Amino acid sequence: MASGTTSLPDTPPTASVEHVNIFHRYLFSEDAANSARKDETYKHTELLPTFPSIKWNPLELLKGLPEPGRNLSQPHAWKSGQLMNRQEIVYSEMSPSLGSEIRNMDLRTLGNAEKDELGAMLAERGLVVFRNQPNFTVDDQTALVSHFGPLYRHPTAGIPSEELSHIRVLYQGPESKPTPGFMSSVRQWHHDSPYELNPPGIISMRLLAAPPTGGDTVFSSGYDAYDLLSPGLQRFLEPLHAEHRPGQLDPLKMDMHARRPHTSAIHPVICVHPVTGWKTVFAIGTKGSTFGIVGLPQAESEMLIDFLGATVRDNINSQVRLQWDEETIALWDNRCVFHAATFNSYPHRRHAALISAVANQPMSPEEARAELLREPTSRAHSLDIEEKAACSGGNNVI
Ligand SMILES: [Fe+2]
Repeated sequence: MASGTTSLPDTPPTASVEHVNIFHRYLFSEDAANSARKDETYKHTELLPTFPSIKWNPLELLKGLPEPGRNLSQPHAWKSGQLMNRQEIVYSEMSPSLGSEIRNMDLRTLGNAEKDELGAMLAERGLVVFRNQPNFTVDDQTALVSHFGPLYRHPTAGIPSEELSHIRVLYQGPESKPTPGFMSSVRQWHHDSPYELNPPGIISMRLLAAPPTGGDTVFSSGYDAYDLLSPGLQRFLEPLHAEHRPGQLDPLKMDMHARRPHTSAIHPVICVHPVTGWKTVFAIGTKGSTFGIVGLPQAESEMLIDFLGATVRDNINSQVRLQWDEETIALWDNRCVFHAATFNSYPHRRHAALISAVANQPMSPEEARAELLREPTSRAHSLDIEEKAACSGGNNVI
């Protein structure tokens, strides 16, 4: 080799491919599940993940889906509804802007009006955690989430069986040793499946097997992410749209079977929640799945994606952390809440079942004016008006 030149290896480095495969093996491999199947003491073997080679038709755009909670007359009406008026209920808030916790009631006993109230609560609080649900089954979970829309079927995630293809299963066992560098929290913040034409709205999750510690889920408010921007940047972002692709979960990159063709989707950067009418940053900031902001030079698009991602990730005032146990059911609204997993439960078993409802397409502020017949607002502005009204003794001001 002549001095001053650099020779290239005969074969390209494989580090990046290995990187992805590590993630594949960690979360989406049947190896750990097969080991658990042999454990006669484990009581949830029927819900371990499988990856059957089946084919589904591509999803078609759905419009006009019902919006449980929108039928309530005004913001906060759920606070004086049937659910909150139950004698037994113990209600608390996890932070001022995000997350509510309900104890001491059986989630299986919710009536339809109470489910609507829960829809409104989820739209405002983003996350609602039900504790002490020892008898809640995946059938109960399916029935509850069905109230909020058609059940979503993920194209690549593990499912218990073809018959239970609406249940997304995450499984980690003693064999699932993570690679800390790959599971960097910087890459974890996301909305679920923003690459779908109709991304999921209400998402439910429970742990069938919970580690003694670790494996928490962290949530960050999309409403707050919008409210934290300056008025000038809010105005700049509101007409813009972003393209979302499967990103790091792309089955082609992970050598996984996709049960239906993956799609990409273009959604508004700033969306309006159909129940609250509040503006939220939607799904952007996740480098893994946000391909770019449409119409902007690549450098500006990347700068804004980085900035919005940092806003979601770094503002601890806008976040709550959920510690799981096996009697907890959490629901969150994927339209206004970012979430991130923590991967620190190794070597303990962590077995999760997620069921999600498909929602209407995310709405831009302009579309919301026509759809909601009112001016969309920010959560902060809405609460500001409410506070002033409370000081002056006014009612019905929003
Ligand atoms: Fe997720």
